[in-house]
Amino acid sequence: MIKSSSMASIAKMLEGKVAIITGGASGIGAATAKLFVQHGAKVIIADVQDELGQFHCKTLGTTNIHYVHCDVTSDSDVKNVVEFAVSKYGKLDIMYNNAGISGDSNRSITTSDNEGFKNVFGVNVYGAFLGAKHAARVMIPAKRGVILFTSSVASLLGGETTHAYAVSKHAVVGLMKNLCVELGEHGIRVNCVCPGGIPTPMLNNALKMNKKETQEVLCKVAVLKGTVLEAEDIAKAAVYLCSDEAKFVSGVNFVLDGGYSITNNSFTSALNALINNNHA
Ligand SMILES: NC(=O)c1ccc[n+]([C@@H]2O[C@H](COP(=O)([O-])OP(=O)(O)OC[C@H]3O[C@@H](n4cnc5c(N)ncnc54)[C@H](O)[C@@H]3O)[C@@H](O)[C@H]2O)c1
Repeated sequence: MIKSSSMASIAKMLEGKVAIITGGASGIGAATAKLFVQHGAKVIIADVQDELGQFHCKTLGTTNIHYVHCDVTSDSDVKNVVEFAVSKYGKLDIMYNNAGISGDSNRSITTSDNEGFKNVFGVNVYGAFLGAKHAARVMIPAKRGVILFTSSVASLLGGETTHAYAVSKHAVVGLMKNLCVELGEHGIRVNCVCPGGIPTPMLNNALKMNKKETQEVLCKVAVLKGTVLEAEDIAKAAVYLCSDEAKFVSGVNFVLDGGYSITNNSFTSALNALINNNHA
């Protein structure tokens, strides 16, 4: 349950806004759904994990959050969740296209599974496209709205993930930029949040590690030490980007990776390993 004292102690940056969050049943989406509600938004979680999505709504103990089953690769499901928002609240202010999958872990182009590639694209790119399309249909006449996507540091780097995942996240950024230009004319802002690694079920499953093991790997490679990136950090960025505080922020791939993507440590690591070997 959200305590009324903690509700009162934060400035509500999304008061009265209506938001759909795809992939809101887990990880980054679930953390964002919770924080959006705390900031006064009415939230609709759109996901395929029905039990988990409904559990979050119940746990938050407020009528300002709903769960709607929505497979983002289904045009009718996405249309339905947007219609739900409009029929319930009369508008849609925020469409956060966050649902994503990593797909299998095969990084070889010669043996990558074709259907697996299409599945990753289906959720990460086509799903994001459908979310933007149905949201834009109601936001354009309203002459306002915010469309947010979750990209990834995989949109900035080569060789760190599978081809399907890397290409899908580059594509999400491309979609964001194109939409930013088309929809800017209608007063609609379009951005991405771009997270570094977070030990959510998606990453843990992809690495075949538990949360603790994933976190250890992430800490080891992190540029910024002494802290870790959490789903709640992405949620805070999403609150800002979707709020009126960010009223002129559009076309941005907002990176939260503690500086990971601005450097390449492989030369230093190899050099240090050589020096250590020579001194051993
Ligand atoms: N965890 C990370 O390290 C990381 C880093 C960068 C970007 N991301 C991105 O963040 C987003 C959220 O991932 P997460 O890490 O919170 O993982 P997660 O697995 O915890 O959450 C993803 C959610 O998306 C939902 N989903 C999957 N396919 C769907 C579909 N077809 N329709 C509707 N919902 C569907 C899942 O059911 C799940 O609830 C993804 O787009 C992911 O690519 C994650």
